[in-house]
Amino acid sequence: MGPLSEAGSTGVFSHRVIEWQRAHGRHRLPWQNTRDPYRVWLSEIMLQQTQVATVLGYYDRFLQRFPDVFALAAASSDDVLALWSGLGYYSRARNLHRCAQAVARDHGGRFPPCAAQLQELPGIGRSTAAAIAAFCFGERVAILDGNVKRVVSRVLGFGGDLSVASQERALWNAATGLLPEASVERYTQGLMDLGATICLARQPLCTSCPVQPLCVAKAEGEPQRYPVKTRRLKRSRRESVWIWLQWRNQIWLSQRPDNGVWAQLWSLPEVASQADWQALCQHWPGTPQQLPTFTHVLTHLDWTLHPVRWGLPDDLTSEALDRIIVSLNAHPGRWFGVDEALLIGLPAPLKKLISSFRLVC
Ligand code: ADE
Repeated sequence: MGPLSEAGSTGVFSHRVIEWQRAHGRHRLPWQNTRDPYRVWLSEIMLQQTQVATVLGYYDRFLQRFPDVFALAAASSDDVLALWSGLGYYSRARNLHRCAQAVARDHGGRFPPCAAQLQELPGIGRSTAAAIAAFCFGERVAILDGNVKRVVSRVLGFGGDLSVASQERALWNAATGLLPEASVERYTQGLMDLGATICLARQPLCTSCPVQPLCVAKAEGEPQRYPVKTRRLKRSRRESVWIWLQWRNQIWLSQRPDNGVWAQLWSLPEVASQADWQALCQHWPGTPQQLPTFTHVLTHLDWTLHPVRWGLPDDLTSEALDRIIVSLNAHPGRWFGVDEALLIGLPAPLKKLISSFRLVC
């Protein structure tokens, strides 16, 4: 028996995690010290792939606007996306909204009280379901998000390739074997805190780690080798010209389609090349201004954008305006006042671009 299988069966590992959480973990995050599943669920969705520091402001604003699941269920998707704007991974916001509607409609506004049922809801995967069930209902179930995979695979020296489903399942089983008999809430929070503050991906702080004496990866001397994952995300590149049409104090924005990058957010029309752009704008009245090119890094895509701001004459007829808009061949859209545009669901770099202009003008 290896050091940790022993630790799991005797509860040494979970005991150390729990005591460490009590003394050194995080206790004052706004979604802690509550068993309200709405609040816990909201935080867990926001925290997927997103750091605590980023989530803090969004979380409070969201709760102020949508204090309970019925308020969120009744909102328009535009309003939900507007409040999510800048947090990224927008499919989370759409699933969040669908989930609220399902809880309101099918469960009388109450989140189901166990992980198995929570997992049936839109946007709630196995680990998120377990986190909600552990925090709100004290259910004895394992979480295994990205950070916790790192902690558990290192402590166990689990060298299976997590791109392979059977290996991932084996790690879930191992994580389940490590669960404590009691205090699963604190244990769960402890694993998250360890993953976020001590068992870091590149430079783990092993000397401060409460489970270092049990850790197989540390004993082997190269904890960074874990977790093993051979299939890396395939990245691609894209380049587009972003067309900012400005008429009087308004910007023309189109709503992106239901899937793909920035789904359903309002954005600038785009064309795929400078040549397309030159062909498109050659007879347009007004003055172009080339803005600095930048690359926006998404999970699977490096997207280089060349924004150009085109000031159309104030006295342009509506027929002439319409001709220009039709020629863009963009998704349906409309004119927004600059201040109004900053209140709707915009991709983060566009919000930044428009805000920076507003400051200069
Ligand atoms: N990441 C995911 N869930 C979390 C939580 N409850 N507290 C801190 N970070 C988290």
